[in-house]
Amino acid sequence: MHKKIGVIWGDCASKEIVAQALSVLEAIEKKYGHEFEYTKILMGGEAIDEMGEPLPQSQLNLCLEQDSVLLGAIGGPKWEGLPGHLRPEKGLLKLREGMGLYANNRPAKIWSQLSEASPLKKEIVDQGIDFIIVRELIGGAYFGKHELYEIDGEKIAMDTMPYSEHEIERIGKIAFETAQKRNKKLCMVDKHNVLETSRLWASVFDRLKEQYPDVEYSTMFVDNAAMQICKNPSQFDVIVTENLFGDILSDEASEITGSIGMIPSSSLGETSNGLYEPIHGSAPDIAGKDVINPIACILSAAMMLRYSFDMSKEADDIEQAVDSVLTKGYRTADMMSEGMKQVGTKEMGALIRKEIESC
Ligand code: IPM
Ligand code: MG
Repeated sequence: MHKKIGVIWGDCASKEIVAQALSVLEAIEKKYGHEFEYTKILMGGEAIDEMGEPLPQSQLNLCLEQDSVLLGAIGGPKWEGLPGHLRPEKGLLKLREGMGLYANNRPAKIWSQLSEASPLKKEIVDQGIDFIIVRELIGGAYFGKHELYEIDGEKIAMDTMPYSEHEIERIGKIAFETAQKRNKKLCMVDKHNVLETSRLWASVFDRLKEQYPDVEYSTMFVDNAAMQICKNPSQFDVIVTENLFGDILSDEASEITGSIGMIPSSSLGETSNGLYEPIHGSAPDIAGKDVINPIACILSAAMMLRYSFDMSKEADDIEQAVDSVLTKGYRTADMMSEGMKQVGTKEMGALIRKEIESC
């Protein structure tokens, strides 16, 4: 199969993980006779440096022409002082919006080999951690009005958090369908004791749930959800929530699985052209040191094969290769524990590639 993949190399340590993901994809190409055609796309700090803005229209257009887009991570101290509309993160938000990617899927699954690396007590980890956060990605506070003004010499800032019924309904459908394919439990996380947007979410979901009688539906306040994720994570199967809550809870969920460096994500809209990226940042503190864990990016590439290209056998190969390498005791620094063998970014990529070639 021939597929066009847009590659956003990203900032700081990001290039190191993207290089490993591409090398793993090359192994898949060879093994299965596929042809992946790569187009370099600039977004984030690199786009600011080379083109003066975080996502020039030409680069968004390139993304729209691909079969799918793979991203590392963007941002870093170099661009910290810039005004909001020129920050690297703005490029990412524009990209998500421009590609219409409203459904962000973030799995929180513990790899049994990494249970030691989880900060949770063993008896909690042993009950299992395997849930997905379906995060609404192009609405809410991220895309509301942002204002800074002054009254009587005092600065006042305001961010609005709008949601319309159709935005809630379309993510709701994805969430119920995701639950149907898993253990048929869906928890909608909101703050409907305080927020009007949450009350709208709750009412749309109350309507939707009638269409999915096979799914056990519940709701939970976000503050309680933050607590339950570390107290009793095995109760969750699929969590669906709005953009900002999803951002926060997905970082928490990744941490309890041992390392944020292991968690990939997919973002999809109405077409199969999606964006696949690790959920972690660009790790400026360890950039250029061959230390960053490439697995989240490699697993993001696997998700791309599975969800955008319908290549489930190939995706299984990558996931199994990661599993074998972990079983053999190899760890990057972020997930290192006693008795394991610590390796760098490149070596971890090479080990995974070798497993794919040999299985
Ligand atoms: C994420 C990131 C982004 C977000 C940032 C970089 C804008 O934290 O993908 O979770 O908040 O969505
Ligand atoms: Mg985040």
